[in-house]
Amino acid sequence: MAKNIKKADLDWANLPFGIVETDYNIRYHYKDGKWSEGELTSSQFFPIHIAAPSLHYGQEAFEGLKAFETVDGKIVIFRPMANALRLQKSCERIYIPLIPEDMFIDACRKVVKANARFVPPYGTGASLYIRPLAIGVGAKVGLGPADEYMFIVLVTPVGPYYKGGFKPVKALVIEDFDRAAPNGVGDCKVGGNYAAGLKGRQYGLDRGYPITLFVDPKEKKFVDEFGTSNFIGIMGKDYVTPSSPSILPSITNDSLATIAGDIGLKVRKEPIPMSGLGKFNEVGAVGTAAVITPVNVINYRGKDYNFGNGDKAGPVLTDLYERLTKLQKGETEDKFSWLDTVEI
Ligand SMILES: Cc1ncc(COP(=O)(O)O)c(C=O)c1O
Repeated sequence: MAKNIKKADLDWANLPFGIVETDYNIRYHYKDGKWSEGELTSSQFFPIHIAAPSLHYGQEAFEGLKAFETVDGKIVIFRPMANALRLQKSCERIYIPLIPEDMFIDACRKVVKANARFVPPYGTGASLYIRPLAIGVGAKVGLGPADEYMFIVLVTPVGPYYKGGFKPVKALVIEDFDRAAPNGVGDCKVGGNYAAGLKGRQYGLDRGYPITLFVDPKEKKFVDEFGTSNFIGIMGKDYVTPSSPSILPSITNDSLATIAGDIGLKVRKEPIPMSGLGKFNEVGAVGTAAVITPVNVINYRGKDYNFGNGDKAGPVLTDLYERLTKLQKGETEDKFSWLDTVEI
């Protein structure tokens, strides 16, 4: 139980989605074919060789998940096994050695426990964001995988991703810049994808759109995903989300789809033609940071497509949002065994 922990003196309800310095991060080194034991450290920095392949060739993969304080005072991590498996897939694609699931989950538990005073109190709407990353650090100038690696897990308490809370935003479809390539690494959580998405993101921001929607990079005919979140659309009683080889399989999307199926919606994972955008009643951008960001307008080739109820999210996305966030806070039954309790 986390009840007796003296919490950090923070304005929990008004935290940004940013970095707040915490007490510890945890680090593992890979050398001579094996990972070291994890070491908790309070330094926010580490020395790295200037010829590290992560710096030159982007040999880096990462994850993002959250810990919550529940209504009964426990600290839980949401679906760490799913993130462990996704990181393994990303690492495999860019030749980073396997990080065993138990090492990943143990690292998350240890760093959350060491920073328990930064887990936002129940009821504040905030959470502890967990950011694991794996990088190639051995010196190398020619192209090739590094000889040495680091696996680091840092944490930071975060408030809602968008300050307005569960309020709809406008999205702009980006066709001039791609974030991923056909047969590339769009389905992996690797750093380069995000650098590749920055230009499209800025293009949207400059025109007043907080989020951008990318189309499939091969034919430019299908919905791919938003810059840092998956696309879901509600059409009558159907929950529809793209199947595409160039999008990141979102754990939030998987969780919402599971809940949707459980409450009787039909879950459809299929290519979504851009020409079919107008058929959706509701659209959401889904990911760990915001869970669901309702989208009320998508601007595609100069035409606005409208969803939801104007300035309010539609009823189905509102219901799904409440069901998942209540489960994360322990307010409803953990029906799918998604909560990993951290022993404090
Ligand atoms: C490109 C991209 N798509 C989707 C997501 C949502 O994934 P998740 O729900 O696992 O956070 C993220 C965030 O991790 C992302 O960066």
